[in-house]
Amino acid sequence: MKLNFQKLGTRIPNTDLLVLFVFEGEKPKLPAGVELAKVATTGFKGELRETRVADALKGPADRVLLVGLGKAKDLDPERVRRAGAITSLRAEALGAPTCAVLVADGVVEALGGERAGVALAEGAVLGAYRYEENKSKPKQAKHESTTILGPASLEAGVAKGLVLAEANAFARDLQNKPANLLTPSDMADLAEALEKAGRISVKVFDKRDMEKMGMGLLLGVAQGSRQPPRLLHLTYKPKGKAKGRVALVGKGLTFDSGGISIKPSAKMDEMRYDMSGAAAVLGVFHALRKLDVPYEVHGVCACTENMPGGQATKPGDIHTAMNGTTVEVLNTDAEGRLVLADALCYTTSKIKPDTIVDLATLTGAVVVALGHEMAGCFATTSKLKDELLAAGDETGERLWPLPLLDYHKDQMKGAYADLKNISGGDMGAGSSAGAAFLAPFAGETEWAHLDIAGTAWGGSAREWVGGPLGSGYGTRLLLKWLESR
Ligand code: BES
Ligand code: MN
Ligand code: ZN
Repeated sequence: MKLNFQKLGTRIPNTDLLVLFVFEGEKPKLPAGVELAKVATTGFKGELRETRVADALKGPADRVLLVGLGKAKDLDPERVRRAGAITSLRAEALGAPTCAVLVADGVVEALGGERAGVALAEGAVLGAYRYEENKSKPKQAKHESTTILGPASLEAGVAKGLVLAEANAFARDLQNKPANLLTPSDMADLAEALEKAGRISVKVFDKRDMEKMGMGLLLGVAQGSRQPPRLLHLTYKPKGKAKGRVALVGKGLTFDSGGISIKPSAKMDEMRYDMSGAAAVLGVFHALRKLDVPYEVHGVCACTENMPGGQATKPGDIHTAMNGTTVEVLNTDAEGRLVLADALCYTTSKIKPDTIVDLATLTGAVVVALGHEMAGCFATTSKLKDELLAAGDETGERLWPLPLLDYHKDQMKGAYADLKNISGGDMGAGSSAGAAFLAPFAGETEWAHLDIAGTAWGGSAREWVGGPLGSGYGTRLLLKWLESR
């Protein structure tokens, strides 16, 4: 779908579908020249997500779509984002090639032009996201272009929202690819393609490099697969002096079968999404240059499969991390923390950032605790936690703080080696145990761990999220965090 902005003048352009956002309790304000049958608006309340379609009797549009925003006092960017997504979904369902969204003054007054523009553009583009690349006869979208009509103050926000939405779609495309069409080497190729766009450099480490660096945990996960692993290191440098150095670390399991501790077969195909942390990190690099982010940003993605091949790690095997820590692998399905541990060792020793944020589809337990609309946030400082939560509230990628206490760390002490990769017994708190395993590898560096196992896919409560497909969760959140820091 193409997205345009047009400053609202006296004339509404010709369009198949004119879209009006309506606050609850207010009458739809039809622009001059547009006429509807009297009954077309009767009974329309303007509740959030309420829609109504009517044929236009007169004017530049064939049809008019009313979209409810809910009460004016409750307006926030997420409601505008959802109205934008509803617009795209309805335009597609109605088979309208073009639509024009008239942005009510009240929306711009309440949120400011930039915020309103970002949210609306994001919603419109994310709501139109489709994944057809593996259909032999891909269905063409019926809805082709959306024009946002409003005051000039919206324009910069619309342009930014488009960049953010495209970065999100890039991450979603990676997520949605099945594991045979997106291997660790394919991820490396895609990262290298980002390099060509400029101001980003990419280093790709293969198995030999990992052996030299002593990444025994990452190699231990990879050894059961025919697909060779890759560690990606992307670097973005801002034009002027950097405001600081930040590292984003992503779990990149292109497939997680569980290994010898194999998963049940139901829904195992969803483990294509176990690279969603890495996808979110690559999504950030898709947009950094376009947004002129003032930080030096490093992205580290640990990419491998977790498979039960003849060489696979067996429960009880002991592997040694890059920093010398020994780990007994009691459950080969707790592999995310193993690959992240070596990625964190690499990050702290080679990059030495001020702050690390990792994203990982780490535990099923976080889905039990928080569902699909919120990710778990563990952070070593309340400042970092507050910054990330605020960014998530703004982008609609919400986070909830979870505890990481000393007793969680004690549970990860090994009997035969320094650490074990599961807490074992009936300790519960599975997401905290995962975070506790990672903590020593982040060392003294300010660090946050986002467990995105619930939010990376499967969310359906909000129109822009993606339903059964990947959500691209994390990309816009991290970019917002970098912007507002
Ligand atoms: N990738 C999974 C986590 C996951 C499970 C994500 C379900 C989304 C949906 C991870 O590698 C894993 O298998 N974790 C185990 C850890 C356990 C063995 C301690 C889990 O959560 O069951
Ligand atoms: Mn697993
Ligand atoms: Zn996994």
